[in-house]
Amino acid sequence: MKNNLLQLRETARQEISATKNLTELENIQIKYFGRKDGVLNVLLKSLKDLSPEAKKEVGQLANQVKVELEESLAKQKTILEKEDIASTLEQDRIDVTLPAIAPKKGSLNPTTLVQNELEDIFKSLGFMVLDGPELESDYYNFEALNIPEHHPARDMQDTFYIKGLAKNEKRVLRTHTSPVQVRAMQKYGAPLRAVAPGRVFRYEASDVSHDHTFYQLEGIMIDENISITNLIAVMKTLLRGILKRDVKVRLRPGFFPFVEPGFELDINCLICGGTGCSVCKQSGWVELLPCGMMHPSVLRAGNIDPEKYSGFAFGLGLTRLVMMKYGIDDIRLLNSGDLRFLKQF
Ligand code: DAH
Repeated sequence: MKNNLLQLRETARQEISATKNLTELENIQIKYFGRKDGVLNVLLKSLKDLSPEAKKEVGQLANQVKVELEESLAKQKTILEKEDIASTLEQDRIDVTLPAIAPKKGSLNPTTLVQNELEDIFKSLGFMVLDGPELESDYYNFEALNIPEHHPARDMQDTFYIKGLAKNEKRVLRTHTSPVQVRAMQKYGAPLRAVAPGRVFRYEASDVSHDHTFYQLEGIMIDENISITNLIAVMKTLLRGILKRDVKVRLRPGFFPFVEPGFELDINCLICGGTGCSVCKQSGWVELLPCGMMHPSVLRAGNIDPEKYSGFAFGLGLTRLVMMKYGIDDIRLLNSGDLRFLKQF
């Protein structure tokens, strides 16, 4: 019996120190101290068959073994718990020196990029940057610009006519940014330097170079003695500033009812380099900057005396300029919302 106890103590100790985790240790505890069939309890139960003296002696030893083993179990438990924490920490380790996950950055539409650049150029030349309504009155869009009703000049622009709120009131989705010319003159008078970038609309079938919605940037400069020389100087500064290179330009007469004389300023097509492509309609040139000296009737509509003041005006095809600058060969991409396209800017 004594020997059995000593043997049991030895085996149990070995088994306890061999455990590698808390679950194993718990199993050992149950194996030896389990209330019903724990090895130690089973052994103690057989004490009753011994003589009183032997019972006393073995009983004491059994108690001692029990206490010893309980201590071993407790010790091993402490060791395993520490290891457990350490391994959890190891597994959950965070490398605080790693760079953080950067938020995803969006980007601006190329039209906005170029518009911002243009605004900076014009601000540096002392121009105001103005806004105008997209739903415009027939008066500002046409009449004040020397395009009376029933005049064939209206046919130059396919227009979205919108019924106004009042009876017989006519509204249009502005076909150009030119109405801001008159609004600006009425508000600020002369002398005046202003640009008005914005969205314009035409009732037009779309293809690679036409869309129903596109962008222009209108500009006017009014003062005493403003001449075509000023016009050309400002246009050249503008193109150099935005295209970051000297481009070939040509000036030819152009008719617009609100300027006299009027010009078409064309630039050498930057898509094909002038050899001819679908964007420049195989001509090698792209109409970019219609411009001219402001018509006296328009100055008058803006309450400015044409005897005292003169001015030039231009209507930059902002969308077209964007296409030239970035080599975009289909205008429809710009309003498409296609992320594969937009992410490139
Ligand atoms: N508004 C004209 C258009 O959209 C463009 C234009 C031509 C604007 C000549 C001007 C100008 O200011 O002087 O067709």
